Amino acid sequence: MSFKFDLVVHGGSVFTPGGPVNTDIGIRHGRIAALGDLKNQGAETFNATGLTVLPGVIDEQVHFREPGPTQKEDLASGSLGAVLGGVTTVFEMPNTDPATTTAELMADKVARATGRMWTNFAFYVGASPENADQLKDLERVPGCCGIKMFMGSSTGSLLVADDANVARVLASGTRRVTVHSEDDDRLKERNAMVSAGADVAMHPQWRDVETALKCTQRLLKLAHASARRVHVLHVTTAEEMELLKDHKDIATVEVLPQHLTLAAPECYERLGTLAQMNPPIREARHREALWKAINDGVVDCLGSDHAPHTLEEKARPYPRSPSGLTGTQTMLPLMLNHVAEGRLSLQRMVELLSTGAQRIFGVANKGRIALGYDGDLTIVDLKARREITNKWIASKSGWTAFDGMTVTGWPKATIVGGHVVMRDDEVQGTPKGAMVHFQETLRAG
Ligand code: DOR
Repeated sequence: MSFKFDLVVHGGSVFTPGGPVNTDIGIRHGRIAALGDLKNQGAETFNATGLTVLPGVIDEQVHFREPGPTQKEDLASGSLGAVLGGVTTVFEMPNTDPATTTAELMADKVARATGRMWTNFAFYVGASPENADQLKDLERVPGCCGIKMFMGSSTGSLLVADDANVARVLASGTRRVTVHSEDDDRLKERNAMVSAGADVAMHPQWRDVETALKCTQRLLKLAHASARRVHVLHVTTAEEMELLKDHKDIATVEVLPQHLTLAAPECYERLGTLAQMNPPIREARHREALWKAINDGVVDCLGSDHAPHTLEEKARPYPRSPSGLTGTQTMLPLMLNHVAEGRLSLQRMVELLSTGAQRIFGVANKGRIALGYDGDLTIVDLKARREITNKWIASKSGWTAFDGMTVTGWPKATIVGGHVVMRDDEVQGTPKGAMVHFQETLRAG
């Protein structure tokens, strides 16, 4: 007997561009081929009765450490954690070792990913003073999602700190420039605050509001001057949100679940260096401002900034402890819990986790459940009450800052390119991730 579809997802409440609809989804050759009543038409049927079917979650900020310190993570383990958390596509960051700054190193990442990654994948090219003028060519290599520019020093050696070099980066090319926005001069000036023996609770005072705000002010000025669209990553301050709302023509905005969920000083008292990251987790007034920016529409997307470090490294005394939290596996459960607690609608969550990245980066054929789009689906149980535990975390680093937290809402299955690769907390089959394709992009103006 021959079937019309390779996979039919049956009986779920499906989040179409027009809102939730009770419909089956037929997937053929990796693409969504039909919506409607498709009973008995799939070679394989996934019974989604009682479940909610969302467009595949795109995590547009992960650090998977390969090549380099693969004792923390690699492309296989990182993407395994991602699919367990309902993520279908990741964009991976260039602060590996070596940093991803050349066409050869980009091709090397794509080659390493192919056949080993559970999620679909694309990679950022890292901006540096050395490659600034070549970025217009580097951004066009297959598998490149955009450019990453560190304006403040963080993990790794990538840094473009001064206005002249930032302007060179912004002048070269048209794709989205994503930015770690912390003013490096101010970080250096204030470095003495966190000399040996300082408490980790000092982290947000060293890397303070002014450090972030000053850098974002400089960035916006330079972005306007060169008519280059920028994506400001992991915004953490009320003051930057106040500024960014007036620059929607040039800048999109990402926030992280950890900045929406945790607050200082409680997080440092309870978690110590496990809460240490750049830019830092700040006091509750900033967390409330991020929520307001989400609900006012200033925020364009969410990413996890999955940045694993081993527990041994995290146990070093601050400030020798490295900055970064794991996150790709917990992003969706945390956000579903925020939905359950009434902080945002499911529709807004879908926009932030799927549609937003599609729009910002010009992803072809992903981010919505529609005919002709890729068969990437995240199937969730909105009512499931579950505990997040370290045991569940697939990252090689083996920990989450949310260990012991009970959430309402959980990923039940992850479908990548029409293949059910995760079901009930187990991965199945082999890695099916494919390289992501992008549309042409233009400069602003
Ligand atoms: O806390 C952070 N960790 N912030 C970054 O910008 C980089 C990341 C990492 O790669 O460890």
